[in-house]
Amino acid sequence: MRRGRRFYYDLFSRVYDKVIALHSADKAGKLRSWLVEQGGCKGGMRVLDLCTGTGSVAIEASRTGSLVVGLDFSWGMLEKARDKGKGARHLVWVQGSAPFLPFRDESFHVVYCSHAFYELRDWEKLWTLGEVKRVLLPGGCFLMMEHEEPSHPVVRFLYKVRLASMGSLDSSRFISKELKLFSRFFKDVVREKSPTGNSKLIKGVKR
Ligand SMILES: C[S@@+](CC[C@H](N)C(=O)[O-])C[C@H]1O[C@@H](n2cnc3c(N)ncnc32)[C@H](O)[C@@H]1O
Repeated sequence: MRRGRRFYYDLFSRVYDKVIALHSADKAGKLRSWLVEQGGCKGGMRVLDLCTGTGSVAIEASRTGSLVVGLDFSWGMLEKARDKGKGARHLVWVQGSAPFLPFRDESFHVVYCSHAFYELRDWEKLWTLGEVKRVLLPGGCFLMMEHEEPSHPVVRFLYKVRLASMGSLDSSRFISKELKLFSRFFKDVVREKSPTGNSKLIKGVKR
């Protein structure tokens, strides 16, 4: 497990939601609701929100009546998620690492991962895709949402520096091949733009 990254997120958890609200003018709330809708969750389903952070996606998904597990490796983020989700039913928080999921095979109907996948190292991305496939039921769906590459050159440069410092040094190469890679694990892989235009969704179904 990456201790430095965990420590970073333990600290960042204190202001994470405020920072997101500030830089996205609360589009993030709507964006995460849109993501949940795309998964088609409903009562009786079991849902995993991978790298749940402060739990926005998991809490939204639990409103559909699905049983939702929010997993993250940062205790700080999970504590915030627990506070935010207080009173919500059908919601469980689990500390764990994305490439080593502590769940049985075929446990979930839907798995989400919002704005976290690109932060994984290249080997972690591959292992995580394998693990997501393992824990999904046949016909279950994986939905990965990430920022689109910004068009403004300065913002694009900063975006690439962030990806290089967190995920892989060669993130552009990974992004150019990601649909092919997802297709190795899932069928019916599609990519679409979010309604805000700043994020993208990649969706695939377990064979
Ligand atoms: C940018 S935040 C996104 C949080 C949330 N999904 C959202 O959309 O707001 C990235 C999250 O991924 C978590 N994370 C990063 N690498 C992880 C890993 N290998 N296993 C589990 N969680 C991880 C971090 O702790 C952090 O909470």
